[in-house]
Amino acid sequence: LRNSTPIRYDESRDCWDVLRYEDVHRILKDPVTFSSVRELTGKGTATILTMDPPRHSQLRSLVNKTFTPRVISDLAPHIESITNEMLDAVKDNNHMDLVHDLAVPLPVVVIAELLGVPPRDRELFKEWSDILVKGPDTNSDEAFSQVMKEKERAIQELNDYFAKILEQRRVDPKEDLISLLLSAEIEGQQLNDMEIISFSVLLLAAGNETTTNLITNAVRILTEKTEIQQQLRGNPELIPSFIEEVLRYYPPIQAIGRVATTDIEIGGKLIKKGNQVVSWIASANRDESKFVEPDAFITERRPNTHLSFGFGIHFCLGAPLARLEGQIAIRTMLNRMEDIEFIAGSPLTSIQSPFVYGVKQFPI
Ligand code: HEM
Repeated sequence: LRNSTPIRYDESRDCWDVLRYEDVHRILKDPVTFSSVRELTGKGTATILTMDPPRHSQLRSLVNKTFTPRVISDLAPHIESITNEMLDAVKDNNHMDLVHDLAVPLPVVVIAELLGVPPRDRELFKEWSDILVKGPDTNSDEAFSQVMKEKERAIQELNDYFAKILEQRRVDPKEDLISLLLSAEIEGQQLNDMEIISFSVLLLAAGNETTTNLITNAVRILTEKTEIQQQLRGNPELIPSFIEEVLRYYPPIQAIGRVATTDIEIGGKLIKKGNQVVSWIASANRDESKFVEPDAFITERRPNTHLSFGFGIHFCLGAPLARLEGQIAIRTMLNRMEDIEFIAGSPLTSIQSPFVYGVKQFPI
């Protein structure tokens, strides 16, 4: 498709699909022509993910400092100890479900702590997060509506929970993100409670399933390509570039949506004002005009300008955290486990979403 119809209009979905690196890059770096604002469903409050400047930049700048690579790198020893704790819990079994035992809980616990959730409430968070990422077990309408109901309930419970934490931090501020958002001002005006809660839920939702899939996809590569597992055991300094290549090769988020704010021509096609545009990162990352041997997994690929964290003003806020968690998970597993193997014959079920790349279980 990238060669035959790199930009195409899909009538059934009423949107444009954009497949080439150059075009995806152009769209993501132009928020004036390609807006992130979308209609909200239900009672939702807009978050930075669905805002354009100037509000986007104002809100994002409040938390930017918390997520710089330098600040995030200070968390490394703590993330390592949480990882070890989770691996200790299954160490006598000789097998584990990577998704359930490490890849889901690790990012939840880390972001919950950054937000200011007390460690005793970790389990609650894990439960909500499990529900938020859960897909229907079957394709029936009934299963789908059941899952949607559960998700609505989980979001409500999360909102109520954050509302309580907000009240506590208002009287007794701590060094966490919620206290920071409570004291922040934009042009002399404080954020309202709903804005703070939505921001918190965004951080939780945007960072969890994605990092879960990064960790799982990384271990998948180690079991599919055992020579790479050997290479990393001998050269642990390659783990950061390995993680970048996992991101390029199996991007946890496959595509990013925008809306055209004006008529615009791209690649000889006229995209009309108001049209939805889907930029396929997964395709851009394998574009032969950008990457040498795009379908080969090359641990030391340099440069590796993948688009898996997006590009431009919406570039993933949590990228330094996701990278660090991915690197620590892999380093710790390689240190502790003599050999990591997929348990042959186990079912490998993909997550039912065109935009998310990952599997539901990964027994090793
Ligand atoms: C934005 C991917 C982890 C928070 C994005 C975007 C992508 C992305 C593609 C751009 C969306 C757009 O342009 O519309 C990923 C991947 C991750 C990951 C693949 C893990 C491997 C995280 C983590 C956090 C996080 C750990 C939070 C701590 C956010 C936020 C935005 C964002 C808040 C919105 C930024 C903005 O609109 O300015 N992420 N993400 N992400 N991500 Fe991540």
